[in-house]
Amino acid sequence: MQADIEHILIDRQAIADRVRALADQITRDHCGELPEQGGDVAKLDGRSLVPVNPAAAADITLVPILTGSFIFVADLIRHLPVMVQIGLLSISSYAGTATTSRGTTIREELTHLPPSLEGKHVLLVDDILDSGQTLALAAELLAERNPASLRTCVLLRKRRPEAMAFNADYVAFDIPDEFVVGYGLDFNDYYRNLPDIVTLKPKVVEAARRSETAT
Ligand code: IMP
Ligand code: MG
Repeated sequence: MQADIEHILIDRQAIADRVRALADQITRDHCGELPEQGGDVAKLDGRSLVPVNPAAAADITLVPILTGSFIFVADLIRHLPVMVQIGLLSISSYAGTATTSRGTTIREELTHLPPSLEGKHVLLVDDILDSGQTLALAAELLAERNPASLRTCVLLRKRRPEAMAFNADYVAFDIPDEFVVGYGLDFNDYYRNLPDIVTLKPKVVEAARRSETAT
C-alpha cells in the first residue's frame, strides 16, 4: 500500500492540528465562546461540557456523509466539548443518469437520521468538496426537516470553480484539483486507512482503471 503513494499532500500532524482548530471554531460559533475549564462536571479534553453561557448551551447534530468522512468526524467530535448527536447519511455519486438526482442518490439502507431535526443545530460533514453535488443534495434533504441552523463542514475543498461556488461554512484545507486518498478518502474503496492525505502514483490509478474496463 505504501509503495502506491506518490507524495504526501497533508501529513497526519497537520491534519490533527487543523481539525482541532476547526473544532474550536465550530464550538465558538455554536456557543458564543469556548467553555471554561474547571467546575464539578464531566471533562472532555480538558474543557468543561458546560458552556460559559448556559443559555447558549450548544447541542449539535452532526451528520457525516458516508463513507469518506468517518475518520474526520470521529476526530472532530472528540474536540467538541458540547452535547453532540450523530445522524448518518449515505450518498452515492453517479455519472448522472435519468434515474438519479443531479448525479447523486441517497442510499436509504445506510442512512440513519434522528426522527426529527426540527429546531436542531445541524452540521453536515463531508470528506471532500469536489463538484458540490453531494453536499447540495444532502443540504436540500436536511433543510426540508426544518433545523434551527444548517451548516456544512468539509475536510478538503478542491480549488475548482464548482467547489468554491458552494458556500461551505467550514473548510479544513483547500487543495489543488487532483485526486487524493487517505484519512477516509478512497480509490475503489481502498486506501482509507492511510493516516496522511496523499496522491497515488499514476500507474496505480491507470492499472485499476484498465482492469475495471477489462471486466
Ligand atoms: P462531489 O459531489 O463532486 O462534491 O464529490 C464528493 C464525493 O466524491 C466525495 O464525498 C468523495 O467520496 C468523492 N471524491 C471527490 N474527489 C475525490 C478525491 O480526490 N479522492 C477521493 N474521493 C473523491
Ligand atoms: Mg468516495
